[in-house]
Amino acid sequence: MTSAPDADHYGVVGHPIAHSWSPFIHGMFAKATAQNLVYRMFDIRPDDFRREVLRMFAGGFRGLNVTVPHKQAAAELVNELTARAARAQAVNTIAFFDDRTLLGDNTDGAGLTSDLELNLKLELSAKRLLILGAGGAVRGVLGPLLEREFGEVWIANRTPAKARALAAEFADMGTVSACGFADLRGPPFDLVLNATSAGLQGEMAPLPPGIVGATTVCYDMSYGRGDTPFTRWAKSLHAAQAVKGWGMLVEQAAESFLLWRGIRPNTRPVLDALAEHF
Ligand code: ATR
Repeated sequence: MTSAPDADHYGVVGHPIAHSWSPFIHGMFAKATAQNLVYRMFDIRPDDFRREVLRMFAGGFRGLNVTVPHKQAAAELVNELTARAARAQAVNTIAFFDDRTLLGDNTDGAGLTSDLELNLKLELSAKRLLILGAGGAVRGVLGPLLEREFGEVWIANRTPAKARALAAEFADMGTVSACGFADLRGPPFDLVLNATSAGLQGEMAPLPPGIVGATTVCYDMSYGRGDTPFTRWAKSLHAAQAVKGWGMLVEQAAESFLLWRGIRPNTRPVLDALAEHF
């Protein structure tokens, strides 16, 4: 990315971080909107997170994206939380304003719902949603999902108690049912979201087959080249669609860019560039 010497500095912090596509995405956004900024990635260990991030902002950084495993630590570090970050108790975007406030936001849920509704053009109203997993990734997206008028929402997790605890925490936003994988029953869900980290270990949660049918959309919140264990499973059951989370990644980035720069970039050119690459 070319930039003038007075460029504003941004970046993404995580551990590990080596394969992040965020610099590519924000680089395209900056070019398309003529914003003079530099965006880099930083591998920061959990023990160093607070000290290093405070040093970056003291040194002039205007904003950071925060990824695994720092999202909860980031929520504790900032001075203020947006309503959606407070609801999630997790932060994926920090903005540093001129009055020296550090604001924590969470754009993951908005990124997911934009991908589902605008890119994939799914009608969510009255549909049956199944979420797999009950960790940090689910915490980040559950609020914005429950703002949609789903007919039914289920959370299934390897450790059912964690699914029940999360359902109880968000009960004020709507009815959420919780169970273990073996308790799942058909008829097929309309949308199945994989938010487990099982795929990172090349694994697939043990799910009964009756929950996916010919009209089910299966969405893996993780992404990469080729099929994930989850999208492979979905295709083997002839799901209507088996989608990876590239669109969510790009849309959450656009929401972060909006918070920092006051402009929401057009995501289509970036989605097309990633689709061509993969
Ligand atoms: P993240 O921030 O990615 O959500 P996390 O908070 O550690 O990470 O949560 C990981 C989620 O993936 C959890 O729901 C976890 O299930 P448990 O609560 O039972 O630990 C789930 N998970 C991880 N490995 C899994 C596997 N091999 N099979 C099924 N679920 C798995």
